[in-house]
Amino acid sequence: MMKLRARVIGAVVLGVTVLVTWILYEELSSGRTDIRHHHSIEGSMDYNVLYGHQKLQHQLQQVDLKSIRDIRNTMDINSNSQEKDYVTKNSTVLFDIAVERLLDRLELLTSFGLSRDLLRQTSMVILTRQLGGIARKRSRRLPWPQNYGSDTSWTNYRKFHHNARAAALYDPDDPAIDGLLNDMATKPFKYLEMMEKGTELKLLIQYFDGTKAVFKPMRWPRDHETLPNHFYFNDYERHNAEIAAFHLDRIFGFYRVPPVTGRFVNMTSEIFMLAGKALKKTFYVSPIGNLCFFGECSYYCDSRHSFCGVGDVIEGSLMTWLPEPPVGDRDRWRSPYRRSYSKFRKAEWEVDDTYCEGLLLDDQLLYERFMPDLIDAHIFDFITGNMDRHHIEVFLHLRNDSCPIHMDNGRGFGKTKVDEFSILAPLIQCCRIRKSTFLKLTKLYVGPEPLSELLDESLRNDPLYPILTSGFYDAVDRRVLHVLRTVARCLTNHSIKDVFIDDPF
Ligand SMILES: *[C@@H]1O[C@H](CO)[C@@H](O)[C@H](O)[C@H]1NC(C)=O
Ligand SMILES: *[C@@H]1O[C@H](CO)[C@@H](O)[C@H](O)[C@H]1NC(C)=O
Ligand SMILES: *[C@@H]1O[C@H](CO)[C@@H](O)[C@H](O)[C@H]1NC(C)=O
Ligand SMILES: *[C@@H]1O[C@H](CO)[C@@H](O)[C@H](O)[C@H]1NC(C)=O
Repeated sequence: MMKLRARVIGAVVLGVTVLVTWILYEELSSGRTDIRHHHSIEGSMDYNVLYGHQKLQHQLQQVDLKSIRDIRNTMDINSNSQEKDYVTKNSTVLFDIAVERLLDRLELLTSFGLSRDLLRQTSMVILTRQLGGIARKRSRRLPWPQNYGSDTSWTNYRKFHHNARAAALYDPDDPAIDGLLNDMATKPFKYLEMMEKGTELKLLIQYFDGTKAVFKPMRWPRDHETLPNHFYFNDYERHNAEIAAFHLDRIFGFYRVPPVTGRFVNMTSEIFMLAGKALKKTFYVSPIGNLCFFGECSYYCDSRHSFCGVGDVIEGSLMTWLPEPPVGDRDRWRSPYRRSYSKFRKAEWEVDDTYCEGLLLDDQLLYERFMPDLIDAHIFDFITGNMDRHHIEVFLHLRNDSCPIHMDNGRGFGKTKVDEFSILAPLIQCCRIRKSTFLKLTKLYVGPEPLSELLDESLRNDPLYPILTSGFYDAVDRRVLHVLRTVARCLTNHSIKDVFIDDPF
């Protein structure tokens, strides 16, 4: 995290040039006036001429990424005879012909304000501070009592709660967030209790300074992949997925996942000694001498589903507890893209490709930011591979303005080789995407750092690093490309104006 901050400072120092380019960039992207005009440009431009021109200008070389080529071979969207002539600029980290065409088309629309060169020169950190930054700073806080004071002795935990806003759970530059991660990872536990809800055991931890967090112990080693015959609702949760999801969300500049850290926990002194009777009863020593426990919960809490340490040390994830009622009351919207949670039934969206059209007409349930948030959530879940997003949860008191809170990411990062396209259904069927989300994905496409590199750099700050096996690094880059390909495919049948949602977030 220090590194991240150092990068920000470094970027600011470098910034004069970047700033100038940014002002230009912002100006371009805020000019949304003349749609008729750019449609006519679009219609009249001969793409072949354009490509030929670019060919002369750039040193050309086919990017040699095996996994990317595999994708091209397995998906044949938009492929045609021009493909052979089409060679990439050496500088994009990912490559796909349909995406290149889409980006070329968008770059021609000055009012869209896309420039691959500018994106390449702007770090992801700067980009994510810019996009949605104003909305984040201006949006409301929770309705704390007025005397919920200005005490400087506040814990990082209280600062986090106090600073949560409608447009983002936290500010990326708030030092309290790194402080909170450090507190959760290092401070001694005071109390713990088993949480009643949920299919798997979770412990609610309380620290001496009042900080609270949810502890999910490790069940499997990191290279254990989801069993192919298991349904998503039978999949076990993974502590490392919770950690990786927090970092990924922060890299993307969504700030919708509550802070999560990993921690090595002494099962004797930090769990057993603090445990109530019911939990204590479930502790035992395994045949090879490791300490194990299974606790109480509604499904997976018996001796066949134990958590076992190495000796008496177990690793796990700690997710910050959110503000409590009444101020922190939350509303749960049943997701229209919920799965059926049945081995035998399919959900409506799975059998009806026009499902979204009906949905977009039904504005009863849908406040303005609902659909873009839902689609963001599914893009995020597609990249982590999490099929388990059944509700959209928001702060009740900020309701129509509240961003969704992306908790429960433990079922992501289960399969390195399988990209679960059904998670992208809202994007595929609705063909809408927040413009800012699209720009961020495009940034990860042009590089210079791919998402995998940014993710690795961020995860290095966690006490449990390495968090992900290398297969997931390939997977996240590949999935970024898949999302962009999906957008490119949308543009074959939908207008630019319909696809990109240019809201303040
Ligand atoms: C193109 O990319 C490769 C691999 O990243 C690199 O080794 C090479 O120097 C690059 N060439 C140019 C002209 O930038
Ligand atoms: C865990 O705590 C117990 C009790 O304080 C101690 O005896 C044991 O050595 C600790 N385990 C490790 C690995 O430090
Ligand atoms: C929230 O949005 C709904 C639907 O757009 C609207 O009817 C309602 O009045 C809004 N509520 C608030 C508090 O703004
Ligand atoms: C685009 O529209 C055409 C004709 O309406 C249809 O055949 C095709 O399947 C559509 N493609 C996509 C990707 O929706």
